[in-house]
Amino acid sequence: MSKQIWNRKDLIDIESIAPEELETLFAQAETFKASFGSRKKFDTLKNHTVGTFFFEPSTRTRSAFETAARNLGADILTLNEATSSRTKGETLRDTAMNIRAMGIDMVIMRHSAAGAASYLAKVLDVPVINAGDGAHAHPTQALLDAFTLREHFGRDLHGKKVTILGDILFSRVARSNIQCLTKLGAEVTLAGPVTLVPQEFANYAGVRVAHSLKDALAEADAVMLLRIQHERQTTTHFPSLGEYTALFGINEERLAWMKPDAIIMHPGPINRGVELESEIADGPRSVILKQVTNGVAVRMAGLHLCTLFHESRL
Ligand code: CP
Repeated sequence: MSKQIWNRKDLIDIESIAPEELETLFAQAETFKASFGSRKKFDTLKNHTVGTFFFEPSTRTRSAFETAARNLGADILTLNEATSSRTKGETLRDTAMNIRAMGIDMVIMRHSAAGAASYLAKVLDVPVINAGDGAHAHPTQALLDAFTLREHFGRDLHGKKVTILGDILFSRVARSNIQCLTKLGAEVTLAGPVTLVPQEFANYAGVRVAHSLKDALAEADAVMLLRIQHERQTTTHFPSLGEYTALFGINEERLAWMKPDAIIMHPGPINRGVELESEIADGPRSVILKQVTNGVAVRMAGLHLCTLFHESRL
């Protein structure tokens, strides 16, 4: 087995992670995933308490992190924002410092502000894991997406073509995936309404912006669909959802433009009938629920590696 390289207590973004660290994380996630059949528990986080601060809604990320932490032996402390003293004006720093004073060993946070996780990592002396910050980064989503692609196509993604279709402008998933996939040697094509696909993203090496949906689908080994992020949009970027679906929704006709072995991915939540027809979401080309399962293994690996690194330096 090659040497394990992991140089961080916090997992904030993909940009700062070296390709060797990505390999370490994927290898660790493979080990954890292989244990799922036996429901084996691990003890990396035994006698540890993990705080989950979700200041935006979440189903998959929160549940996967909590499952991952429990699989590693942790107790979970869940901060419920709606009933917390954040509603009385308490700052994020004060909230976090108070919970830390109770003895938590790690924080997993989702926040609407880009940079919030990075800020918290500077404030706290325990690992901080970013579960999504504004439109900035969603590192564990990109890691589970890459893990799923490696599982499907083999560990070497060099030359694999991934098309990301939809609301790129407001998507932290797109940003983290662009960074992760290009580090792994994949080629990324961005497609969608011109108002939601910034041309400057093509400045990244290994990324291009498509002007033809047909070409973007025809060349892809995987098509990653994104929902429209209404919660981050302050103005209208296309006339109506119906028109978005008519121009960019994946239906049977457009599925036929894709290679027969190309796969469909989606980070969730899916807006069925908008960016993706229901039958395709549930069909044989979809790996959407595999992405969800892999999210537990990848998050176990992230929690495990950040904890080992942090505690080796105490
Ligand atoms: N993919 C993702 O982040 O889903 P949730 O918002 O449900 O966590």
